[in-house]
Amino acid sequence: MPDVVPDKTTVEGFFDTPYPVPHQRHAHVAVPSPLPIGNFRGVGHSLTGFFMESFIDELAAHLGKDPLVLRRELLASKPQHLAVLNLAAEKAGYSEANRRALKAQGRALGLAIHQSFSSIVAQVAEVSVEDLTPRVHRVVSAVDVGLAVNPDVVAQQIEGAVVMGLSAALYGHIDVEQGRVKQGYFTDYRLLSIDDAPIVETHIVKSQEAPRGIGEPGLPAIAPRRRQCPVRPHRPTAAFATAHPRLSGRNPMIALQINGKRVDLDVAPDTPLLWVLRDHLNLTGTKFGCGIGACGACTVLVEGNATPSCKLALSEVAGKQISTIEAVAADPVGKALQDAWVAHNVPQCGYCQSGQIMSAIALLKRKPNPSDADVDADMRNNLCRCGTYQRIRAAIKDAAQTIGKR
Ligand code: FES
Ligand code: FES
Repeated sequence: MPDVVPDKTTVEGFFDTPYPVPHQRHAHVAVPSPLPIGNFRGVGHSLTGFFMESFIDELAAHLGKDPLVLRRELLASKPQHLAVLNLAAEKAGYSEANRRALKAQGRALGLAIHQSFSSIVAQVAEVSVEDLTPRVHRVVSAVDVGLAVNPDVVAQQIEGAVVMGLSAALYGHIDVEQGRVKQGYFTDYRLLSIDDAPIVETHIVKSQEAPRGIGEPGLPAIAPRRRQCPVRPHRPTAAFATAHPRLSGRNPMIALQINGKRVDLDVAPDTPLLWVLRDHLNLTGTKFGCGIGACGACTVLVEGNATPSCKLALSEVAGKQISTIEAVAADPVGKALQDAWVAHNVPQCGYCQSGQIMSAIALLKRKPNPSDADVDADMRNNLCRCGTYQRIRAAIKDAAQTIGKR
């Protein structure tokens, strides 16, 4: 972060606001921080989008106007913004009658629009508060990104931004103790999991204009509330500390059954299975994420049960049947899931996906026709930083149907 002002990123989204504010003055003060800080995704827009849209809502409340009506009035001379706003409102069913009906069910609709990186995004969120805990059930987004070269990738970017923005807005919290950030990983810095991720719908404005930015523009309107992201110093975990198998030749040979084949290993018995798979057997489809059983990236099947391999000592799995992602294509359930994953274009960065598929295989073998609650219960320990949850759910349901028809 620059410690000299003016810093354009702190006021982007303000000085170029589409709202008609004829007289503007922007000022800010740089506060030196002894802590290393970095920009949140979306940079200045993730702050200014929240401030500006909250301010517009306060104005609407002050004037006794519906927030959509006020925005329409303010954006009357901005046809592109108006089109995006109206599309989001229409697709979300934002009407007085619907809002009243939702209110009777303890739910409400929130609305925001923001332009960043030359893209315009409007979002309508359906929310409730259950046991004093806010919950977002559905987010309907409308976007104008010019010509959408690959519409499904645009939708993926919005879905990921919603999950990331809501993780920050609902749970993002950093404590500093004795000059150090206390939070260290997903165990104490919560990320939305599949069971609390909303349904995300994305509608793209048809356009023949040149393609414009997408990626970050999905964030500012979804109410992120922090700019600084946690900077995690590398801290070896307990599993990491035991990660380097000692090839002494003095270890008792341990036999494993991996993907239907027997392998004999001269490896220290306390070595985590994950390291054995990756470093000794070159089965690198299973990924290291946290090393403490908190993310699900390293999930394999042990006797058919989805299990994080980073927490299993080699000695614990001796003689047991272990399946990894490398073998899924040979398994009818695994193959149906793989095909559904491709059909739904599930992965973004892909890092978590082998663990997701392994957990999904265990689920479908146990419950061939899972409900949403079953999916939530079995998949909640597999985190996806890219927010692919609703595609995972859809792919699991599709695979279940495919298997059921055989
Ligand atoms: S690497 Fe995260 S659960 Fe194993
Ligand atoms: S696809 Fe990137 S973490 Fe899941």
